Amino acid sequence: MPRSTLLRWAVQSVGPRLMLQREARRGQLGAKLAIDKSLWDDPFPTYEAMRAHGPLMRGGLVSSTASHGVASEVLRSPAFRVGIGSSERLSPLARLLLERTVDPWAVGPAEPPSMLAVDPPDHTRYRRLVSKVFTARAVAAMEPRVEAIATELLDEMSRRQAAGEVVDLVEMYAAPLPVRVIAEILGVPDSMQQKMLEWGNQAAVTLDPALSYRDFRRAAVALRQIHHWLAQHLVELRRNPGDDLLSRLAVLQDEGETLNDVELRATALLVIGAGFETTVNLLGNAVMLFDQHPDQLQLLKADPSGWGNAVDEVLRYDSPVQLTVRVAGEDTEVAGHEIQSGRFVSIMLGGANRDPDVFADPQRFDVTRDNAREHLAFSAGIHFCLGASLARLEGSVALRMLYDRFPDLAVSSPPARRQLRVLRGYEHLPVRLNQPAMVP
Ligand code: HEM
Repeated sequence: MPRSTLLRWAVQSVGPRLMLQREARRGQLGAKLAIDKSLWDDPFPTYEAMRAHGPLMRGGLVSSTASHGVASEVLRSPAFRVGIGSSERLSPLARLLLERTVDPWAVGPAEPPSMLAVDPPDHTRYRRLVSKVFTARAVAAMEPRVEAIATELLDEMSRRQAAGEVVDLVEMYAAPLPVRVIAEILGVPDSMQQKMLEWGNQAAVTLDPALSYRDFRRAAVALRQIHHWLAQHLVELRRNPGDDLLSRLAVLQDEGETLNDVELRATALLVIGAGFETTVNLLGNAVMLFDQHPDQLQLLKADPSGWGNAVDEVLRYDSPVQLTVRVAGEDTEVAGHEIQSGRFVSIMLGGANRDPDVFADPQRFDVTRDNAREHLAFSAGIHFCLGASLARLEGSVALRMLYDRFPDLAVSSPPARRQLRVLRGYEHLPVRLNQPAMVP
């Protein structure tokens, strides 16, 4: 492991942790949520407390919001940026170190030049290239493939249960389904899918702000492995391109577009990671919610046309991505508060999705809610999730097919949540597929 990993950890995790601790001591609830793991299982009361302070809770350097109106405004405002390291509120040394310690062979999904972490004009360029593949038509055309993949996984679950094994819904369905789908779209070979899943799981922590050195180092190792594999794979695709996204990205250089190698790998890595690290949580969270609210599942069994709306209600109620951050690129005003250039706003997407100003009786899980789709689980503005229609398709097909096959599916022992702040989902979800046979 290069020595620079330690320096990068100090700059990217120790610095933010000290800043967040200072803010948390002053009562900034967004900062408290970022570092106090005991709040992660149930962040919703803290979002309520934040909203009770008003639409925007001011802090020293970081303000936070759980208001739907403010969140939408900030996400859509050209006055805000995602380039966190560009904040002039950071000391010149911190900015220099952030810039200089980037490791092009371990760039994470939320680090420049990942699309998620760059502003226009670079963002516009990357997004245009990837959008060419994620057209509504291309996504709709994936439906039969999603069904076929779901069928294979459901068959395997049946076999495992028949063999007397405990079925873990995350391991056997929620995780592999989106990995296979995104791998097909991108042209990742079957033999690499399990590896991608393992590396992706290890790298997912890099979205969180204040990592332990152990987690940071583990993620760096995984990221380095993904980058090296991608570099080699892209060389092969240039020689022998297929009809998939990675091939198209790989040959762009030849067609005169200007993605350098690091940009190319960062874009590919983001789409791969974003393609499964979130959808796994959508599926797991949904199964847990239906287990807790059987009346809602009954409604869908009676009228399967409601699955699309139900997926949006799951996304609203238990959002797979709980927060995102923006930095003011100029002096501006939000909800009557002045925000000076360089200040951060921490946007609680999962909190905004329970804002009573927008959602009536927001703590109620209601698959027939008529404005469920107004949630911000896919963010808003120019970084609005590029895979939203694919995620919605995967969610409704996978859940409908799961409950068609196993109408009595039930969670069989208390599940464990993943220890993450930004991503919210289950690590394991042990289930019983059928009702136990009646003993005569
Ligand atoms: C339930 C599933 C998903 C959720 C909840 C989700 C959520 C999000 C959110 C919140 C953002 C924006 C973050 C920000 O504004 O800072 C985002 C961006 C993105 N998502 Fe998703 N996502 C999901 C599935 C997918 C899938 C299946 C793909 C596959 C292609 C994908 C690709 C992307 C990409 C490429 C971006 C970056 C867009 C940009 O920066 O312009 N996502 N996603």
